[in-house]
Amino acid sequence: MFRSLLWYRKIPRSHQALSLKSSTLALSSIVLRPYQEHCLDACVEALQSGVARIGVSLPTGAGKTTVFITLLSRILPPTSNPAASRSLIIVNSIELAIQSANQVANLFPKWSVEIEQGTKHKASGSADVTVATYQTLLNAERLAKFDPHGVKAIIVDEAHHAASPSYRRLLSYFNPDIKNPDPGFPTPSLPHKIPIIGFSATFSRHDGLALGSVFERIVYHRDFLEMIREQWLCDVRFTSVRANINLQNVVINSRTGDFNPTSLAHVINTDTVNDLIVKTWLDRASKRKSTLVFCVNISHVEALTQTFRNCGIDARYLYSKTPNVERKALIESFKSGQFPVLINCAILTEGADIPNIDCVIVARPTRSRNVFAQMIGRGMRRSPDTGKKNCRIIDFVDSTASISGVVSTPTLFGLDPGEITINGEHTSFHYPMLMPSADETPERLEKLAFQTIGSREVTTVPVPKSVIYTDYENPFSMISESSGAPHISKLSQFAWVGCGGDIYVLECLGKGYLRIEPMKQWPSYFEARYTPVAFDNVTAATLGKLSPFMRSRKILTAESLDDAIRGCDTYVKNKVARGSMSLGLLRTARWRQAPATESQKQLLRKRWLRRDI
Ligand SMILES: *[C@@H]1O[C@H](CO)[C@@H](O)[C@H](O)[C@H]1NC(C)=O
Ligand SMILES: *[C@@H]1O[C@H](CO)[C@@H](O)[C@H](O)[C@H]1NC(C)=O
Repeated sequence: MFRSLLWYRKIPRSHQALSLKSSTLALSSIVLRPYQEHCLDACVEALQSGVARIGVSLPTGAGKTTVFITLLSRILPPTSNPAASRSLIIVNSIELAIQSANQVANLFPKWSVEIEQGTKHKASGSADVTVATYQTLLNAERLAKFDPHGVKAIIVDEAHHAASPSYRRLLSYFNPDIKNPDPGFPTPSLPHKIPIIGFSATFSRHDGLALGSVFERIVYHRDFLEMIREQWLCDVRFTSVRANINLQNVVINSRTGDFNPTSLAHVINTDTVNDLIVKTWLDRASKRKSTLVFCVNISHVEALTQTFRNCGIDARYLYSKTPNVERKALIESFKSGQFPVLINCAILTEGADIPNIDCVIVARPTRSRNVFAQMIGRGMRRSPDTGKKNCRIIDFVDSTASISGVVSTPTLFGLDPGEITINGEHTSFHYPMLMPSADETPERLEKLAFQTIGSREVTTVPVPKSVIYTDYENPFSMISESSGAPHISKLSQFAWVGCGGDIYVLECLGKGYLRIEPMKQWPSYFEARYTPVAFDNVTAATLGKLSPFMRSRKILTAESLDDAIRGCDTYVKNKVARGSMSLGLLRTARWRQAPATESQKQLLRKRWLRRDI
């Protein structure tokens, strides 16, 4: 009913230029990159068409803060309720709150902006823009300050959290279409539909939970590779070090889905692993000018810094308690290339702008794509002035692959690290495309592997016998070489077949087939359909030309291929090939290795009218 009552401003580019000329210097930063404009157009179009809850996926370094703040300038109060002129930006940390508020003040000096967070920042509720942390808004009294009647739009940053109950608890207060998890919650009755626009670097949640309960569409998506291809971000080289790091017993925080730092530190912060990190740096990155290292916790920061220094490398460190003045000085001298290695934990994850970083070492395994993307994103700024050509990213992969969901550079770029588990056995995979050169065999790689320096025995981690580096020199060639299905075999143990154009089919043992195909844009990136077989094989044969298939039914839509495949695999196991039958779907199923039977060949001959099969 309220569909067309909102007005949106689509500013012709010429006008923008005009208003720029006549305005203050600060506004010059509002010149948007072409994709940012496209993104804004996509948002405005979706909102105009009546879709009020939309998601945008922009990678780290794409300038999402600028985009969402500018978006607010293009959303006008609805004609039915001109008083609804205020905006709310919901973030999940104080740093992001301050950063966003500063950015608002920079971009739109005429707007009043306030922060609502903790005990220190109390907003009036009547500013043009209020930036609030969701933790604070969960307090009913704080939330009550923001009368939905006066709100024209809500931005949710780091929106991959938005499907969680706590986010829904507060978003449902502004939008009756979002279901509040509490049964007694009175659905608000509002004179206008408040657009809720979620921004994230990635929309896949650790538990695969659909964002459908909050967002209707992902209207714009961009990934690292596109950003690199268009040279908004610098090129990358990456090295995955497969080492004897066993993450199996590391406690996982149920709220974030990520590892508990102290528990993780027990496994990572050992002499062996620290030595390995330094050794890897010496081997792969010692010529790099500015390396940023991410550690697990403060003790790890200190220990690893010491390990670097013991090898004569001028490493310095930074952590949350480093006094502000000292921190600034340290970052300045790192920026000007005065020392090669800066070690930190978490504090340089978000926001810090040190474009000269040409190597990032992720010595902090994570299950969060976002955290990982933010870490490596630190090195992906371009910096031609400092002679930076690309950035090497080094990460460490659990050798046993016993823990699911650990993010590594290859997974972030749509490839999985070289280990998957089949039937409980660990199988090493070395795809030619992942190797230094096409003729490298696993045996030779094994030989290339070297002995680590870990001479001191430690209790938690055995000294690795060998370490395997996998160097990825060009992410683009990797992607194109894997056209077909090699990468899909990393995502699923089932015999999915790549049909080109990102279409994948899984034949379900004569019961039908599943098909995943990319959607243009809406409602998501991939759609999966199941087409069951209507008749048994005899009937189908008798009926001759009649298609044995029933109409396909939609099973799911997903933002990533990874999610689509996982969802389909679950569907097949629960609905199509239950129990041990699903074993027949495995890529490794014995029947697949056997030669075709005479009747199978006959069928093929008939189908293709050929005799030479
Ligand atoms: C870091 O983790 C270790 C476990 O290795 C723990 O003993 C230590 O207390 C943690 N340090 C901090 C400062 O959190
Ligand atoms: C039809 O399937 C059954 C098993 O379900 C099999 O025994 C039979 O041989 C099949 N018939 C044809 C014509 O393929």
